[in-house]
Amino acid sequence: MELKLHTKQKLAGEVSLPGDKSLSHRAALFAALADGVSEIDNFLDAGVTRAMLQALSAFGVQYELNGRHLTVFGHGLDGWQQPQNPVFCGNSATTYRLLAGAVAASGLACTLDGSEGLRARPMERIFQPLRQMGVGIESDNGRAPARFLPRSRECPLRPIHTTLPVASAQVKSCLTIAALYADGESVIDEPGPSRDHTERMLRSMGAQVISCAGNRVQIVGSRAPLHPLRIDLPGDISSAAFLLTAAALVPGSFIRIPSVGVNPTRTGFLDALRSMGGSFSVENEREVCGEPVGDIRLTASPLSATEVSGDLVVRMIDEFPVFAALACGANGVTRVRGAKELRYKESDRIAILCEELKRIGVTVKEFEDGFDLVGGTCRGGEVDAHGDHRIAMSLALLGLISPEPVVVRHAEILNESFPEFLTDLQQIGGEVCLSA
Ligand code: S3P
Repeated sequence: MELKLHTKQKLAGEVSLPGDKSLSHRAALFAALADGVSEIDNFLDAGVTRAMLQALSAFGVQYELNGRHLTVFGHGLDGWQQPQNPVFCGNSATTYRLLAGAVAASGLACTLDGSEGLRARPMERIFQPLRQMGVGIESDNGRAPARFLPRSRECPLRPIHTTLPVASAQVKSCLTIAALYADGESVIDEPGPSRDHTERMLRSMGAQVISCAGNRVQIVGSRAPLHPLRIDLPGDISSAAFLLTAAALVPGSFIRIPSVGVNPTRTGFLDALRSMGGSFSVENEREVCGEPVGDIRLTASPLSATEVSGDLVVRMIDEFPVFAALACGANGVTRVRGAKELRYKESDRIAILCEELKRIGVTVKEFEDGFDLVGGTCRGGEVDAHGDHRIAMSLALLGLISPEPVVVRHAEILNESFPEFLTDLQQIGGEVCLSA
């Protein structure tokens, strides 16, 4: 599918978003670990969360998905069954890494595999600490597919005390889940503030997971049953970032997005936007099941370049493609540093962004850990999504400001995380042109 976006007018309106991707993954998995029936509203129905649900059903977990309402019939981890075939995690690294924590704890023998794209992602970062906890894992090259060897349920995992080399919520969550079933207290330290949804949600289900100062998590392993979930998931701030960017790029625009998750470990994009002169407010702040939620209202304003590095990188780790689109509409040179982790996402997001942006005229210089991007240089032309949903949507947004159209090839990948992207844009006045 080829995608072209443009607009002849300012964008304006209100858009409600489906549930947060990270929270949807966790809600489905933790509900499958709980004892009892969980009811989850505003579940994100997209490629990556379908991957989680399908993987769970391979372990005999039963669920019903009606629109955005998910019911999961949990029977505790002891109720999980041995899968008959390799368990396929699709394109979803969150599914793979979080599920690996549960599989490790279960002692069930199984092979976890995924798409070609997922097979290219680094998994040794979870295999090595899981092995330290006593899990047998066989993998050729520290990547999927990996075979988890059977372990007797009488033989619990060893607790872990570790410092992660890179801040990663997926690795932290994998180990946290395994540590819940370990024999004693585990401590995980991180070099930066990665998203803490796992800690918050597991705590709300009765687990002893304590977030401490200095990016430390303490987990008391007890094998105690988790309470089922009853939760209305907030909208995804990472999806909101695309619509906020669309409105911020087109002069005179206005957008309101109610009920967005504004957990401080996720709001780095808003901080970066503010430092560029973005004019927005977060209103009606409240807490839903331990997660901060607010309504975001933005009015387009002139933007100037900014610099992003340090902890801010971790707090906006998924937003660099859309941030690059935003920077194309800002005055001056935007600098990103300390973001080497972007090279290990759905694509090498530093290399791919620089390569594709250059194709449409943007002056951008690649560094090992970031890029320098000159605003106001986007001309238009043809680009490719490279199998990366966020690259597809971000490049498409540039069609709103470039003198020539921007055509994004293989844009269907956006359905992996934000299938409503195009209809939401149309709802605020954007024009969408699709061809086969
Ligand atoms: C996620 C954590 C991040 C993020 C991903 C979702 C999660 O990955 O990029 O889209 O839900 O825990 P890392 O933990 O690898 O940084």
